[in-house]
Amino acid sequence: MKISVQNITKRFGAHTVLGGVNLEAGSEIFGLLGPSGAGKTTLIRILTGQLTPDSGRAQINGFNCSALGDKERRRFGIMMDDFGVYDRLTCYENMKVFARIYGISNDMIYSALDKVGLSDAAKTPAMKLSKGMTNRLRLARAFMTDPDILFLDEPTSGLDPTSANEIHKLLIAEKNKGKTIFLTTHTMSEAEKLCDHIALLCDGRIIEHGKPQEICRRYDDCKQLRIHLADGTDTSMPHDKTAANRIAELISSGRAVTIHTTEPDLETVFMKLTGKELSA
Ligand SMILES: Nc1ncnc2c1ncn2[C@@H]1O[C@H](COP(=O)(O)OP(=O)(O)O)[C@@H](O)[C@H]1O
Ligand SMILES: [Mg+2]
Repeated sequence: MKISVQNITKRFGAHTVLGGVNLEAGSEIFGLLGPSGAGKTTLIRILTGQLTPDSGRAQINGFNCSALGDKERRRFGIMMDDFGVYDRLTCYENMKVFARIYGISNDMIYSALDKVGLSDAAKTPAMKLSKGMTNRLRLARAFMTDPDILFLDEPTSGLDPTSANEIHKLLIAEKNKGKTIFLTTHTMSEAEKLCDHIALLCDGRIIEHGKPQEICRRYDDCKQLRIHLADGTDTSMPHDKTAANRIAELISSGRAVTIHTTEPDLETVFMKLTGKELSA
């Protein structure tokens, strides 16, 4: 699968939400990262044909995203952040509501529930599910047509680390079957762990893109020295000449217990690029 976004702009009234976005993604886990309000959901809506851009071109395998037919759409699995579940309906019934729209067989419902580990909860009303299970049910809905490409808007938002990890494992299993996963997140550590490529979106523009580790390496000048002191506290300083005198003093006075170099992580890179915290 090939996702191609060329110079997409989108305005709501006087507010330019996407100001010329370019990106390409293939059969992989691609992460679109950015703080709240950056325009991530807007871009997913454009890619899934829910919104039309003001200018530019969004294509999937050469098909224009604003003119997708039913056949192409069936190859998509979509999980938006505002897709809810019906509390009073069981997991199976929740799936059935959407299965009718797509003309999907019961077998496929059960196979999607099985994929996300909810077979045993098929008869459980959604209101009795934990937050992690509810997200897996929303994911099962995206899996229902056995799509080639999954668009997931913040699939692990608000989940505890264990539940988030379960979702990560599911997504990696899908990727290993050759599926394309395009997800958004505002969690840098998730992106570092899960995504093959990422793009950082800030104020409607891509400010950095590539493999997570490559991006971090590009900002090697953000390296820090972390020193553990004899009094039990830690201190950090830039990994450069300016630290030399202070390090020498800490060592000669016996106050430095351990010294480590910390490589910049995505969070550090993002802070450097934008002056903003991503997870705010
Ligand atoms: N339908 C809409 N009408 C007006 N403004 C919108 C609409 N959808 C999104 N926005 C605005 O566009 C900006 C980006 O929103 P969104 O794409 O949801 O960002 P993100 O998903 O990165 O948090 C926000 O300022 C939001 O208020
Ligand atoms: Mg959003």
